[in-house]
Amino acid sequence: MAETIKVLVSEEEVNERIKTLGKQISENYAGKQIHMICVLKGGVFFMCELAKRINLPLTMDFMSVASYEGTASTGHINLKKDLDEPVEGLDVLVVEDIIDSGRTLSHLIKLLGDRKASSVKLCTLLDKPERRVVKDIKVDYCGFNIPDAFVVGYGLDYNQRYRNLPYIGVVEFEEENS
Ligand code: IMP
Ligand code: MG
Repeated sequence: MAETIKVLVSEEEVNERIKTLGKQISENYAGKQIHMICVLKGGVFFMCELAKRINLPLTMDFMSVASYEGTASTGHINLKKDLDEPVEGLDVLVVEDIIDSGRTLSHLIKLLGDRKASSVKLCTLLDKPERRVVKDIKVDYCGFNIPDAFVVGYGLDYNQRYRNLPYIGVVEFEEENS
């Protein structure tokens, strides 16, 4: 199957929204230091752009949790890379590309709580609320609510491709006719 990408959120819209989120976060955390945790690989573009828009002291760490293959959630969470530093006593801001079923995040937030972070907040570029399976996730900051479609770009992939698109696009699959 071949696929085409249709723009859902333009580069300008994404960048504007990230600017606004950065301002909001800077205001809400005034006087504090933020420990940003990026969920690899999808969250990396968003985290870099967001961090540049936050005018507070901050530190960063990265972790990798996999739950997806192709376009279907397997429901199985796999901790592929753990954090380098302990989070105890830190004000953690988890930065995600997208929340879909919510399984990845609920697992992660529990883990960070167990490790005694002093606060854990969640910032996601995209949210697909219709798809939520784990209902009790509090999204503190969200770039865009989007409909139930498989999207790529700005860090998000389809089988590891399209992460480098500077906009968010919907993947449309086409039958290849011979
Ligand atoms: P959840 O555990 O179902 O919430 O899945 C979250 C993870 O699945 C995200 O961090 C993404 O890596 C991946 N994912 C969910 N929806 C999409 C999508 O539309 N495009 C690309 N990746 C997605
Ligand atoms: Mg992800």
